[in-house]
Amino acid sequence: MGLVVGSSRPGRRGPAVAGWVAETMAGHPAVRAGEMSVELIDLAEQGLPLLDEPVPARFGDYRHEHTRRWSSVVAACDAFIFVTPEYNNSVPAVLKNAIDYLDAEWRGKPAVMLSYGARGGGQAAEHLRVILSEVGMTVVPGHVELHLFTDFKWPAESATDPTAHARIAPAPERAAELALLATHLVDASRGAAPVPVR
Ligand SMILES: Cc1cc2nc3c(=O)[nH]c(=O)nc-3n(C[C@H](O)[C@H](O)[C@H](O)COP(=O)(O)O)c2cc1C
Repeated sequence: MGLVVGSSRPGRRGPAVAGWVAETMAGHPAVRAGEMSVELIDLAEQGLPLLDEPVPARFGDYRHEHTRRWSSVVAACDAFIFVTPEYNNSVPAVLKNAIDYLDAEWRGKPAVMLSYGARGGGQAAEHLRVILSEVGMTVVPGHVELHLFTDFKWPAESATDPTAHARIAPAPERAAELALLATHLVDASRGAAPVPVR
């Protein structure tokens, strides 16, 4: 399964959050049994410009090498965990852009979502659910939320320094919530019939 890191700014918390997800998933029975593995997909490393394909993704007529590369990354995964922060009540532009690039590569595949933000990122998760549904993904009901002020530990200097790094320290029930969603994801991917990529 692909673990998508949905932010790209310098100093972002996305990789730390995804690291915690990967660590939690490593203990999941399906991963331990070798039934599934977790591949990190960091959008900051994909080098996608703002959508520059002349033909809508639905037609699969990709003109750019970066799109073909991104297509092969997504096509290789049979299920996804999306890790998204909330930016101004929605998902970051980099995540929406990466989704918009493709179509058949997403279609028919199951997904779960984890959001984080000052208020847990619930609105970003709800927007993401609508976007993923539009590209034909089966989004498992519910999502995990991490709250910046309760699921992270802040150093003393953060009172005056907005760039100070907080350590991720989710409340114990967050791992259980993620494990439950992951179980639903595994069940959904067993029943999923992937649509061939054109
Ligand atoms: C442009 C911007 C807008 C934000 N808007 C929200 C918001 O609407 N709701 C919220 O809960 N947090 C909001 N935040 C806080 C972020 O969710 C938080 O800083 C998070 O760490 C950002 O993810 P990143 O560190 O991976 O970039 C915003 C942060 C940024 C940079």
